[in-house]
Amino acid sequence: MPQHLPDDAPERTLILVKPDGVARGLTGEILRRIEAKGYVLKGLRLEVAPRETLEQHYAEHRGRPFYEGLVSFMGSGPLVAALVEGERVVEGMRVLMGSTDPTLAPAGTIRGDLGRAWDTPHMENLIHGSDSVESARREIALWFPEAD
Ligand code: RTP
Ligand code: MG
Repeated sequence: MPQHLPDDAPERTLILVKPDGVARGLTGEILRRIEAKGYVLKGLRLEVAPRETLEQHYAEHRGRPFYEGLVSFMGSGPLVAALVEGERVVEGMRVLMGSTDPTLAPAGTIRGDLGRAWDTPHMENLIHGSDSVESARREIALWFPEAD
């Protein structure tokens, strides 16, 4: 949580509908699932993300074999950045998304139902969600500085 928010402020997370999701026309379906769960959209933006933003976003993966492909894929077309709020939304969204590899993500999850990883070493998997409250704070500051 940003410093100025009270301790009991609702939890927030940073969601990205990745360029494969936007290109396949799945933005609505993905946002529908998030809203149907009961989470609330507090910010929403369609953009081609600057490389610098993507490098900061994926700084933890710098040096990994898939890093270059991942950053260039994430900048290859428009993505949708969403600031999402709700009770335990960080872990709840990770469950809704399913595991990283869409082939292994359980049916019923966004990646399990809709994701196609084949052919891409960087795994195009439709959606990003912050992996901890701490990561959410960092990523919200990066993508929605006005809301931080
Ligand atoms: P994300 O950060 O995008 O929400 O995904 P995640 O937490 O489930 O996965 P993470 O380990 O943070 O990896 C970030 C993204 O990098 C690609 N990746 N490819 N080939 C590989 O072994 C590999 N590992 C990760 C995926 O696009 C993953 O979502
Ligand atoms: Mg991650």
